[in-house]
Amino acid sequence: MIELKNASKTYRRGAQAVHALRDVSLGIRRGEFLSVMGASGSGKSTLLNLIGGLDQPSSGEVFIEGRPLHGISDHELTLIRRRHIGFIFQFFNLLPILTAAENVALPLLLEGIPYAEVKPKAVELLRRVGLGPRTEHRPEELSGGEMQRVAIARALIAEPAVLLADEPTGNLDSHTSEEIFALLRTLHDRGQTIVMVTHDHRAAAYGSRIITLKDGALAGDISTGGEAA
Ligand SMILES: Nc1ncnc2c1ncn2[C@@H]1O[C@H](COP(=O)(O)OP(=O)(O)OP(=O)(O)O)[C@@H](O)[C@H]1O
Ligand SMILES: [Mg+2]
Repeated sequence: MIELKNASKTYRRGAQAVHALRDVSLGIRRGEFLSVMGASGSGKSTLLNLIGGLDQPSSGEVFIEGRPLHGISDHELTLIRRRHIGFIFQFFNLLPILTAAENVALPLLLEGIPYAEVKPKAVELLRRVGLGPRTEHRPEELSGGEMQRVAIARALIAEPAVLLADEPTGNLDSHTSEEIFALLRTLHDRGQTIVMVTHDHRAAAYGSRIITLKDGALAGDISTGGEAA
């Protein structure tokens, strides 16, 4: 359902060229929980940003559910991002003045759907990530792990085809990290497709497949015994 064909990304700064991604071809199937590993600077975030349409490859192609992410207008790309892709980041990126439920609802509010209509779904998602009693709390009244749960619920509100997570536990202690991995695993068990960038080897136990990047190139691709081949 996600396909990269010979995707490369080269950043140029003056005379210097940085090959952030080199000729990566990769298919990700529906329902996979893919972990992306590799040293700092190996191209993990670049790969995730290409899959999520936040960035365009210098050469090669990216498809989400058969739709090309190239040769389309910014407006079309924005719509694909909003409707098919959920993002989770290391620093949560919650709006401090909004409650947990409002933060979760935000992607649909931006589509012009009234809060009264979205709220029940936001509250239900918060309940699903274990935050039923926290819907009216603001981010500053939540722990780091709770903030990340809100961010996960927000990423799910538009029922995305794929959930993309860039170091979702990079800012959390190990116990809280395990809780977040376990939550992602639960979502995976329910069929959610997930692509997660992580430095954490323990995360591998939660996913169904691990790819490794080295200097921008695909250097490893193993199945970890889940349903994915
Ligand atoms: N906007 C940019 N301009 C120039 N070079 C960039 C840019 N973004 C990334 N790079 C370079 O591309 C390479 C890959 O970067 P990327 O962020 O994908 O690495 P990463 O694997 O996510 O690293 P980390 O684990 O530290 O987050 C790095 O060498 C980086 O310096
Ligand atoms: Mg990165």
